[in-house]
Amino acid sequence: MSSMVQDPESYFRQFIPKRPPILEKMEAEAVLESIPIVGPVVGELLFLLAKISGAARILEFGTASGYSAVYLGNAARDVGGKVISLESDAERAVEAVSHIREAGLEEFVEVRCSDAIQAVAEMNGPFDMVFLDIEKRDYAALLPHCTRIVRKGGLLIADNVCFADADPFNQLLFRDENWRAVHLYAFLPMHSPERDGLGVALRL
Ligand SMILES: C[S@@+](CC[C@H](N)C(=O)[O-])C[C@H]1O[C@@H](n2cnc3c(N)ncnc32)[C@H](O)[C@@H]1O
Repeated sequence: MSSMVQDPESYFRQFIPKRPPILEKMEAEAVLESIPIVGPVVGELLFLLAKISGAARILEFGTASGYSAVYLGNAARDVGGKVISLESDAERAVEAVSHIREAGLEEFVEVRCSDAIQAVAEMNGPFDMVFLDIEKRDYAALLPHCTRIVRKGGLLIADNVCFADADPFNQLLFRDENWRAVHLYAFLPMHSPERDGLGVALRL
């Protein structure tokens, strides 16, 4: 039987996907401004999941400076779709709009400066894909809304499910008959933090 690679966390850093200068600039700013972004591995995963599922209508909770929104926006652009991204911090929302314009995605990503929990109560689906990346303690309250607005066959992706505050959400999602879900614990280079979990679920 083949042996495992030595020091997998160093080994897997060579596979961090290449990305355009705008995303590298946002990564540098995120370090300077202490913005917890998903980084290029999870960003690429979001892009791939959106592409594989053909997601056109995408909802993001937690824009920050727009880093993950750029990955999702690139996938939405390819199918003439749209990302709506919710951010409660007005300064961050302005920063995100500027980055999204710089990435040439203003037609495909709409940043709404609002509290996601209040805003989602007023929103209707169907969405093909939802990405959760706000305060982890709020994920559980968002789950019934996700069930309501994600179409059958649509995707729910939740970041940072290794945070203790995400436990109520993890427990609910795992037992919810509306979703077929897996919780992944992984090493995610340049993600904040690098050892964390992702929830991936299909709406049944
Ligand atoms: C982890 S960051 C998002 C990172 C972003 N998804 C990325 O990877 O580029 C979380 C963001 O959610 C925002 N946020 C927290 N609670 C929120 C809420 N209730 N509604 C909207 N935004 C919220 C914060 O201001 C912060 O910018």
